[in-house]
Amino acid sequence: MEILIRSTPAEVAVEAANIFAHYANAGSTLGLATGSTPVAMYKELIARYERGEVSFADSRAFLLDEYIGLERTHEQSYYSTIRREFTSHVDFNDDLVKSPAGDADDPAAAAATYDKAIRDAGGVDIQLLGIGANGHVGFNEPSSSLTSRTHVTTLHPQTVNDNSRFFDTVDEVPRFAVTQGLGTINEARRLLLLATGSNKANAVRDMVEGPLSAHCPASILQLHQHATVIVDESAASQLEDREYYIFADQHRPHRPLFS
Ligand code: PGA
Repeated sequence: MEILIRSTPAEVAVEAANIFAHYANAGSTLGLATGSTPVAMYKELIARYERGEVSFADSRAFLLDEYIGLERTHEQSYYSTIRREFTSHVDFNDDLVKSPAGDADDPAAAAATYDKAIRDAGGVDIQLLGIGANGHVGFNEPSSSLTSRTHVTTLHPQTVNDNSRFFDTVDEVPRFAVTQGLGTINEARRLLLLATGSNKANAVRDMVEGPLSAHCPASILQLHQHATVIVDESAASQLEDREYYIFADQHRPHRPLFS
């Protein structure tokens, strides 16, 4: 795991944008994520697009997850959110921005179809990830199978509570979702996980330094050959071996960050 500790959320966004822009300009298949954390990176990429520094014209995208029970057009569906916050502001071909059909009559069948679509497209080149305060990635909550495929899942009460800030009342937050499974996510050729803020510090510690465990789904990054974790000082505050991670970041032996 490459662990990059940056002073502020703004520096995390710039570092992540440096990596993501490289993949976009190469016409890659991008794995996108919603949530608050990636928004600053998306803003940075939009600014770079407006300056002519990055193009998404040759890229396609697969979203990590989607609520069940919201129409695609609902402002809080992830289909709508990713367009509003990112892809509609750059030169992405909208038809190539895919997300699970959370509004399908049969969400389980839609999940299987989505998983196959990712494979048929040749897989994801770089998957962007956030981490929940409970260690979830996508909507793979604690106890998720470490090898799961895209599937229907139940939101953890903490996730419902965390996401209620996007809705008028907590009762409006969907209780179910379709999420790429941990096995699906781990097949992406590169993982890029971002975390900022002290409320993520325990989850980041468990992901990086805890055991591989379904109790912390993000710990599957330990199994990946090219996972990059970019955190701010607050999210890094519980890492026991942080001095080593800083040293290793400054003395990178072989692989450049951008490939
Ligand atoms: P956040 O969500 O970026 O809104 O904190 C991350 C996640 O739950 O995966």
